[in-house]
Amino acid sequence: MRLTILGGGGFRVPLVHRALLDDPARAVTEVTLYDTDADRLRVIAAVLERQAAGRERPVRVRLATDLDDALRGADFVFSAIRVGGTAGRVADERIPLSEGVLGQETVGAGGVLYGLRTIPVALHIAERAAALAPDAWVINFTNPAGMVTEVMAEVLGERVIGICDSPVGLVRRAARAAGADPDAVSYDYVGLNHLGWLRSLSYEGRDLLPGLLADPEALGSFEEGRLFGAEWLHALGALPNEYLHYYYFRRETLASVRAADETRGVFLDRQQGGFFEAAGRRPEDAYALWERTRLEREETYMAESREASGGWQRDTCDLEGGGYDRVALALMHAIAGDRRARLILNVRNGTTVPALAPEAIIETVCEVGADGARPLPCAPLRNDQLGLMLQLKAVERATVEAAVFKERDAALRALALHPLVDSPAVAARILERAAD
Ligand code: G6P
Ligand code: MN
Repeated sequence: MRLTILGGGGFRVPLVHRALLDDPARAVTEVTLYDTDADRLRVIAAVLERQAAGRERPVRVRLATDLDDALRGADFVFSAIRVGGTAGRVADERIPLSEGVLGQETVGAGGVLYGLRTIPVALHIAERAAALAPDAWVINFTNPAGMVTEVMAEVLGERVIGICDSPVGLVRRAARAAGADPDAVSYDYVGLNHLGWLRSLSYEGRDLLPGLLADPEALGSFEEGRLFGAEWLHALGALPNEYLHYYYFRRETLASVRAADETRGVFLDRQQGGFFEAAGRRPEDAYALWERTRLEREETYMAESREASGGWQRDTCDLEGGGYDRVALALMHAIAGDRRARLILNVRNGTTVPALAPEAIIETVCEVGADGARPLPCAPLRNDQLGLMLQLKAVERATVEAAVFKERDAALRALALHPLVDSPAVAARILERAAD
């Protein structure tokens, strides 16, 4: 099979490549890396070359800077782009913060600004993929993954599936904390991307979640338990996605982000920029530099949220990376080999959450096979869960409308209706600053 990675000069591409090399089935024989930046492509190619050294059957790697050329003949397309680069992220996060509201890559006003910039490009990619590789499956990694997948699905229908590694990370961490084998549990997870809840976790027919939520010691042993705290989790009755920390603890997370020396975007801009520059000069060291940079990125992930919840280090098992690529590979195998699998994915709602439109993208447990991903029925949503989902879906829809039709009213609604933006006047100023 031929795989095309859009954003092939992206920092996390070697993780995907490693998963392809480790795949016993060797399903992918050729990978095309497409990027608008040829220098970054060269650096990533150097990392991959070193990573494949000594392997018996390396995957053939082709570089492309022409989108159409990259898409033609692809069986699978991974879309993992960052429109505007890390400099764009710096602005997305800084502008809202300068107005006193949260600026984060995918959450709050920062996520809306990022969506506004990314959606037109994602739409163009979807159109080119539909024209040149109509039978290919497109797997969207590009953030903000929910709204980006939703707009791509307007062109590609069920042929585009969005992925994120946070939900499966939560399931696995919770299973381990409850003393169960993460590969043997079944679960109910539902929401939107970066806004969902694990609501049951069953092993051999028994739901382990109520016991876990009543066990402060077990909750203190993993990321989400530490982030949200035993008291709140017990009261809430579900395990939230890590990104819900910005909503439930909005005062604390905002204070922590504001108190930090620099934003995540500024850190990554410097860190990633430094890596590409150094690895470009010394391709023979590119792999070692990449590995070191990757570990540092993992170690510092969500540092402000960890600071806001008492200050703690991430567990070593959360530092390995490999979340995204494992979900993507599992999804690819399930589709290509018709090996039925259950995965948490971003897909069209259908009738899963009756209060949402059938074409709205939700993040939920799906059954995957050769015919794609189908959401499994889930237990009814509680009012607080549904309320947040509806509010954020309105924000996502307004962002899509604003990005596609260049509508200022829609952009203002997208920002001002976000639960983490506390005034339409603030929203209007954010919009003005973003246009400068
Ligand atoms: C998690 C999120 C992703 C995000 C990634 C990296 O895996 O689910 O959506 O891209 O973290 O975050 P960072 O702050 O390091 O860019
Ligand atoms: Mn994600």
